[in-house]
Amino acid sequence: MELFDTINSRFSNRKFLDKQIKDEDLKKILKAGMQAPIGRGKYDDMHITVIQNKDLLNKIGSLIDRNVFYNAPTLVIISARDDGHGLDKENSACVAMNMLLAATALGLGNIYLNLVIGLIKENKDVLDKLNLPEGFIPIVGVGLGYADGSHIVEHSIDVDYV
Ligand SMILES: Cc1cc2nc3c(=O)[nH]c(=O)nc-3n(C[C@H](O)[C@H](O)[C@H](O)COP(=O)(O)O)c2cc1C
Repeated sequence: MELFDTINSRFSNRKFLDKQIKDEDLKKILKAGMQAPIGRGKYDDMHITVIQNKDLLNKIGSLIDRNVFYNAPTLVIISARDDGHGLDKENSACVAMNMLLAATALGLGNIYLNLVIGLIKENKDVLDKLNLPEGFIPIVGVGLGYADGSHIVEHSIDVDYV
């Protein structure tokens, strides 16, 4: 898909089909995440966890009586180690954004997830299962799967030319 078509057709998908994405698509999405810009080039301070295990997804889904990842069959957790420069959130968002656009280009539903991160961090059992390397903290979630429908909305942000 042409880049601007991809940007304009991305939307936060909150209804996924019960069908796993292809490994080859997942690899492309992960690679797109890895190609993101990272402050000071500290790619070693970033970590990606892919959750496709249904038991673990169900466990995360059962932590709260609210749908925080919309039963996405693939949940990617982007974690970072803060080296004191406070760029962990920005870096993780860059990685996530590349993944969202890559997924869109591949015709897959996707969503940037923040709420699920708080839940995971609060639940030691789930956090332990992520098996993150020492010092890494989950920052952003990305839900991936086949979208059941579409709802592209055009947004705008005020611009001043000064
Ligand atoms: C930092 C950030 C956190 C977000 N967290 C969530 C979330 O936890 N749950 C959710 O359903 N959507 C979440 N979203 C998606 C936004 O609600 C969504 O991008 C926005 O409403 C615009 O809609 P669109 O993505 O469909 O264009 C998040 C987006 C961003 C950028």
